Formats: sequence, structure tokens, C-alpha cells
Amino acid sequence: MTLVIAIDGPAAAGKGTLSRRIAEEYGFHHLDTGLTYRATAKALLDAGLPLDDEEVAEKTAREVELAGLDRSVLSAHAIGEAASKIAVMPAVRRALVEAQRAFSRKEPGTVLDGRDIGTVVCPDAAVKLYVTASPEVRARRRYDEIVAGGGIADYAAIFEDVKKRDERDMGRADSPLRPAEDAHLLDTSEMSIEAAFQAAKMLIDAALKEKI
Ligand code: CDP
Repeated sequence: MTLVIAIDGPAAAGKGTLSRRIAEEYGFHHLDTGLTYRATAKALLDAGLPLDDEEVAEKTAREVELAGLDRSVLSAHAIGEAASKIAVMPAVRRALVEAQRAFSRKEPGTVLDGRDIGTVVCPDAAVKLYVTASPEVRARRRYDEIVAGGGIADYAAIFEDVKKRDERDMGRADSPLRPAEDAHLLDTSEMSIEAAFQAAKMLIDAALKEKI
């Protein structure tokens, strides 16, 4: 049996770094599900196709290859915006969730991070984490990330953006962002990534022990 770890949370909460760290520690496969929405959005943008045609978007979603996903080519701001727009479409979600579920069954274990992993994609996950941080801290992290990469960033604009994205992700009708009832909350506002990792590790080790 595969051990599934579900990690959800809002934009820039630190899910990605934490998920990669966990996958590395346990030798599990990792899928950043945000990239599946981003890849669909990029394919639509590249082909000059509309972002509001559900049928076209679903067809594009079904063509996304999980193996080739790379955040560095999908990180553009416009792609993130477009991703959160097509992510409200039920047919797009159905197509991507199917692929994500298939991935989650890989042996010996998987880490999936996103918005609806614990609630919709893998409701039976052995460990569910809901990673958050205040909007200010998340905007600051995104700002630092851009500056560290040599880019120019505007904190106020990023902060507005984080709040707008939260509203869209939490307010949509299909699979809104929210913690699963059995999720462990991890507020990383005043926590280093190392401390968050140690907290997650304790929960995962306990789940692994239960399985044996
Ligand atoms: O910008 P950030 O890295 O926080 O977002 P992402 O994880 O790359 O996801 C981009 C967008 O895809 C999000 O704003 C969500 O609307 C959507 N998404 C989703 O609906 N469900 C998921 N499981 C993952 C992402």
C-alpha cells in the first residue's frame, strides 16, 4: 500500500519547499499539483486559445504530461493568474484530479501539494497538512524570492495579489481551498522551514508506525 501525504494551503505559504523536503526524506514521489493547472493555462496562452471556454480548457488539461512539469518554465505571473481562472472550471478540475489521483498511487509513497488534496484528490491520505501563514508574511516571501532571483518586485502589488488569489481560491464553488476536517494546521508565519519540516516529520513518522 502506498502512503499518501496531502499538503494544502494558500499561495506562497511554503508548501512547495516543505513538500520537496518531505519527499526527499522519505524517498517518496512528489507532485506539485499547481503545476498541472499552470501547464494547462500556459498551453492555452501559447496556442492563443481563450481562457473562458471550458470544453477547450478540458481538452487541453487532458493533454498535460505530469512527467514534464517544470516550475521554472511555468512560474510567470501571467501563468499563475490564468491558472487560477481555469481552476474554477469543474471539467478542468475533473481531468487534472484524475491524473493526480493516478500519480498518488505510486509506490512506496507520494507527497501531493495543492489546494484540494486532503479534501478532494486524496481524502484518504495517511497524513494531511494545511500550511498557512499571514498574507503579509506570504507576500514578503514572494517578494524576497523574486529579488533573490535578480528580479524587481513591488511589495504592495504582491500583497494585493496574494489577497486576490486567496479570495479566488477560497471563494470558488468547486473544491474551494479549505482545511480538511482531519488536517493538521501548520502556521508558518513565525516558523522556519526547518521547524515546519520537523513538525511534519513527527506526524508522518507516527503515521508510518501505525501502518507497520
Ligand atoms: O502561485 P502559487 O504557487 O501559490 O500557486 P500554484 O500552486 O502554482 O497554483 C496556481 C493556481 O492553480 C492556484 O491559484 C489555484 O487556483 C490553482 N490550483 C488549484 O485550484 N488546485 C490545486 N490543487 C492546485 C492549484
